[in-house]
Amino acid sequence: MPIIVANWKSHKTTTQVDEWFQAMLADWWQHQDQVQVVVAPPAALLGQVAQKLADLPEMQLGAQDCSPFPVGAYTGAVAASTLVSVGVKVVIVGHSERRQYFHETNQDVANKIAQALEAGLTPLVCVDQPYLAAQLAAIPDEHKAKCWWAYEPLEAIGLGVNQPVAEVEPVVKELRAAVGQAPILYGGSVSAANIAEYLTICQGALVGGKSLEPRDFEALIVAVQ
Ligand code: PGA
Repeated sequence: MPIIVANWKSHKTTTQVDEWFQAMLADWWQHQDQVQVVVAPPAALLGQVAQKLADLPEMQLGAQDCSPFPVGAYTGAVAASTLVSVGVKVVIVGHSERRQYFHETNQDVANKIAQALEAGLTPLVCVDQPYLAAQLAAIPDEHKAKCWWAYEPLEAIGLGVNQPVAEVEPVVKELRAAVGQAPILYGGSVSAANIAEYLTICQGALVGGKSLEPRDFEALIVAVQ
């Protein structure tokens, strides 16, 4: 089953979460058997989204980040085990926006993966070129096969210009050689118009902009089937 991860980034209020689920719930029963959806809201909305998902067992709760440290005196950080306690199953780590704006290093990402795995979460690790080799080198081999992976070309994120499948394919192959059978997703301006192409070479997609409006997201889910 293809994996579609909705990364809401720093979007939405509690009211907008209510609206999103109201619209999605109306039609969701038609799609629930064909696609594995993970919804990753901002951390402050995780509890609210967890409650919505109680009625939708096929959709899973995702987080956009976790602490590289265990539980303890780390003000502002959200420990992986705290995420588990609110129902999170998957945590995005190493998104290029985290690497760029929050100065996360490859070692920080490796530490987050270790914390996530220890807590029982599936890390969805974002990688990009030309840094792929260094990003992979920081992660212990025994962790790699336990993660999900997302190749997100920097120039394709949020701009509406997706990277052609022919350019994504060699990177997916390089990643495949390093991570064994782990699922590999593509991310970067994925929409209903292009999702099917990516599913010929990878196991899913990480979707930002087109996950925000229920109409766009549902069209994308329909295009997967
Ligand atoms: P986008 O974002 O779909 O808006 O390009 C993808 C991502 O950054 O995860």
